[in-house]
Amino acid sequence: MKKTTDVGIDIGTSKTVIFSSSKIVLELPSMVTVDNDTLDPVYYGEKAKQTMGRTPDSLSCVSPIKRGVIADYDFAEMMLKRYMEKAFANKVIRPRIMATLPPGLTELQHHSLANVVESAGGRNISVIESPLAIAFGLQMDITEPKGTLIVDIGAGTTDIAVISLGGIAACDSYKVASMDFDAQIVKYVRKEFNIEIGPLTAEAIKKQIGTVVERPVEIIMIAKGRNVFTGLPESFEVTSTEIYEAIKETALSICNAIRAVLAKTDPDLVADIKEAGLYLTGGGSLINGMDKLIADYMDIAVHTLEDPTHSVVRGAAAALRHPEQLKNIDYQMRSIKELEIE
Ligand SMILES: Nc1ncnc2c1ncn2[C@@H]1O[C@H](COP(=O)(O)OP(=O)(O)OP(=O)(O)O)[C@@H](O)[C@H]1O
Ligand SMILES: [Mg+2]
Repeated sequence: MKKTTDVGIDIGTSKTVIFSSSKIVLELPSMVTVDNDTLDPVYYGEKAKQTMGRTPDSLSCVSPIKRGVIADYDFAEMMLKRYMEKAFANKVIRPRIMATLPPGLTELQHHSLANVVESAGGRNISVIESPLAIAFGLQMDITEPKGTLIVDIGAGTTDIAVISLGGIAACDSYKVASMDFDAQIVKYVRKEFNIEIGPLTAEAIKKQIGTVVERPVEIIMIAKGRNVFTGLPESFEVTSTEIYEAIKETALSICNAIRAVLAKTDPDLVADIKEAGLYLTGGGSLINGMDKLIADYMDIAVHTLEDPTHSVVRGAAAALRHPEQLKNIDYQMRSIKELEIE
């Protein structure tokens, strides 16, 4: 396969991923641990994530991206600069960069993302809404007059979009996603067991035994937390059925959000979607039963994408290889022209 210097960048709520020369060259948590006195960054990435819920008073763990959008410009820039240096180490000369963001944001937010990438050392930057990137990655001709429904359940947002004629016909960046499963697990364990657990333990429980449909065979996991009364560490046993109870409402609200997008979609496009099925991706789609829950709830075929945590970033790089299709999209052309740095 021909090597290119087309670079995709996905600065997600939980992870930043960079794709270049046909492979993932960096994948690290979108997190920075900061010294509260000096406001200097102390740790980035994996190490910063490990400090989550464990920081002493002198440090704070910052997520510069909240619910898919840049919440702290300075830390986003510092983090991305560091990650780009790490990913490229001067190896790629003048890459073309395609950065992604959730659908339905303002022009200002598009600019803000391009500015962060530029300040972090990028040149020749374009931005694309993540559902369009995913469609490019699926090698769809996105300019076709046919409706395609893409659902990306991330950590902070569930991005739902109907694509047709190269644009987004209806969308929602629904602010409930996989990290809300973690929050529900924390709440449940505190209420039912009087035990406080941190976000990393909740995430581990979700990944190991979490489910959004009833499992035919229950599984059990032993986890550790702190007793809310004694303050002492304590092990506890939790079952997949209990976790299902804790998170099923959140999972159903995601299904409702998908329905709501279809409700505002042109009927002919809905007919196309019904025939073709829906494309499901994002790390949040990996929880047991998510595809089945959506398929049953919506009465529609669900195609789960391979490699769901990288479909956006791969698609972003793929989009750069289809300038002819991008040119056919008025909106995209405008963005590219306005945002081009050189
Ligand atoms: N095997 C798994 N089972 C359940 N959940 C998982 C699994 N693997 C990853 N996740 C969850 O997926 C989420 C990360 O997904 P993804 O990488 O798509 O998010 P993101 O792009 O950083 O966020 P967003 O798109 O919302 O900005 C995390 O909440 C993580 O816990
Ligand atoms: Mg994402």
